[in-house]
Amino acid sequence: MTADLFEAVPDVRPSREAMADGAVLLRGFARPVESDLLAALREIVAQAPFRHMFTPGGHQMSVAMTNCGNFGWVTDRGGYRYDGVDPDTAKPWPAMPLVFRELALRAAAAGGFDGFVPDACLINRYEPGARMSLHQDKDENDFGAPIVSVSLGLPAIFMFGGIRRSDRPRRFRLEHADIAVWGGPSRLFFHGVAPLADGEHAVLGRQRVNLTFRKAR
Ligand code: SIN
Ligand code: FE2
Repeated sequence: MTADLFEAVPDVRPSREAMADGAVLLRGFARPVESDLLAALREIVAQAPFRHMFTPGGHQMSVAMTNCGNFGWVTDRGGYRYDGVDPDTAKPWPAMPLVFRELALRAAAAGGFDGFVPDACLINRYEPGARMSLHQDKDENDFGAPIVSVSLGLPAIFMFGGIRRSDRPRRFRLEHADIAVWGGPSRLFFHGVAPLADGEHAVLGRQRVNLTFRKAR
């Protein structure tokens, strides 16, 4: 037995965990590119700042959002849609960085979905207390492509249900650099995020940022 066995606290979580048929959690998958991701994120947010959008029903969302890629997901009194232009800046969304695209492609493949080429990346910022209620991702044209969802910063409880809103969701703790991938039989499953617990993340501070990659068109 050597001393180095005791030097680091091992990550005892399994590296992958099935959430449902077609849905998997890839623990720590983003770690190797973490600093490049964060540098690219800072540039995106400088061009397209986070904002709290309004739902069609007139409620302001607790999660702040922005986008990168050819299309961005937006919501306002007119409804939910993908738009090539940022309504706040009237400019196209920032381009999707290569490090984002490559990570999404590799994570999708690890989840069993080869050839994933996202054209939209919704970026969600949760501060303590922010939450996302159960919903389906269904504003995309092609449900053949999966959803790839990267967690950064504070841990969150991800709720992953079934095809019906009434299906009881299972709860998964998502930590910094974890990636969830769902597609195929679970592509339209309801999911959401419980109110974010307060805390301080070593790199991101008092927030969680989530990158959600989709093929919108
Ligand atoms: C979403 O469904 O858009 C967000 C999921 C998450 O923040 O983990
Ligand atoms: Fe979603």
